[in-house]
Amino acid sequence: MPDLIPVGFLGLGTFVPQRVLTNHDLEQMVETSDEWIVTRTGIRERHICADDECTSDMATAAARAAIADAGLTPDQIDLIICGTYTPDHLTPSTACIVQANLGVTRPIPAFDLSAACSGFVYALSVGVNFVQTGMYRHVLVVGADAMSKVLDYQDRNTCVLFGDGAGAVVLGRVEPGRGLIGHTIGADGRGAEQIIMHAGGSREPISLDALNNRRQYMRMAGREVYKFATSIVAPAIEDALRNGGNGLCVQDLELIIPHQANMRIIEAAAKKLGLPIDRFVVNIDRYGNTSGATVPLAMGDARAAGRLQPGTLFALVAFGGGLTYGASIWRW
Ligand code: ACO
Repeated sequence: MPDLIPVGFLGLGTFVPQRVLTNHDLEQMVETSDEWIVTRTGIRERHICADDECTSDMATAAARAAIADAGLTPDQIDLIICGTYTPDHLTPSTACIVQANLGVTRPIPAFDLSAACSGFVYALSVGVNFVQTGMYRHVLVVGADAMSKVLDYQDRNTCVLFGDGAGAVVLGRVEPGRGLIGHTIGADGRGAEQIIMHAGGSREPISLDALNNRRQYMRMAGREVYKFATSIVAPAIEDALRNGGNGLCVQDLELIIPHQANMRIIEAAAKKLGLPIDRFVVNIDRYGNTSGATVPLAMGDARAAGRLQPGTLFALVAFGGGLTYGASIWRW
């Protein structure tokens, strides 16, 4: 097999909607309190789409920023993968809508990847292959979710946790020694029911009965997902290091950019990995869980704060519905 081309991030862009929903706003909507939400999750506020704003709008804004950041034009993108589980429609894919929004007229492939909150990290693991093998030069990977469109704002178990947002990167060739070091993705379908939208697919098409029972909304078995999340973050990172880390160990990681689902999950992961909490990027207080967008949004914050410098060794890690998980190790 020929040597693989080194692949890394050429550009990064993020987007969140303007409207902010605070814990105090939610106190007016369901029986909850700012104190409960902050102590149980670390979330203080989240951004929410306008009524006429959707996943592809956010994805397109993030994609434009990432392409400009890479110093490219949309026509130089060879493939678009959009990690989302709140697509504009079941068909067409959100990636195809983003392609059109960007004004890309070349017939490049574009598809969505459904792995819930792991969608962006999964999509990276898929996208890198096309660059490594020389098939494509520039792969646009987007993580975008409009969670507010699938939340039941009468269900305090879920509606306080999530927000909307998008992040995008352009993957391409980098100099040897930089970029991707190792990665892993996995799933345990036995937990499929733990994060689920019952109605709206082929199992249970939308019907009046479904709507009356609010079955189009996302439901989550919070405690079970919490157990899965706290058990998977450390092994996923260790596995990604084994898959190409070449002797690197957890202690060598200068920064961890984790899925932002719950501050307590991040703290538990830090403890399991034996790393100080200040090595983790945390922005859950401002955005909540934006599903596929959490990791690129946190990458954006890390870069803005000067925490991603040339050569910085860092890990991305996510978990979510499916149940799915993924991790990857990079040198910036
Ligand atoms: N406000 C006030 N009380 C609440 C709220 C709320 N918003 N939500 C639940 N409660 C109550 C519950 O009803 C329960 O009351 P009870 O004891 O009388 O039954 C009590 O608070 C405790 O509930 P728990 O579920 O035990 O609370 P916990 O400490 O486990 O926190 C949480 C719940 C935050 C959901 C946590 O389990 C969690 O973070 N789970 C993981 C979620 C996650 O990681 N998701 C990521 C994947 S998501 C994706 O892929 C889309």
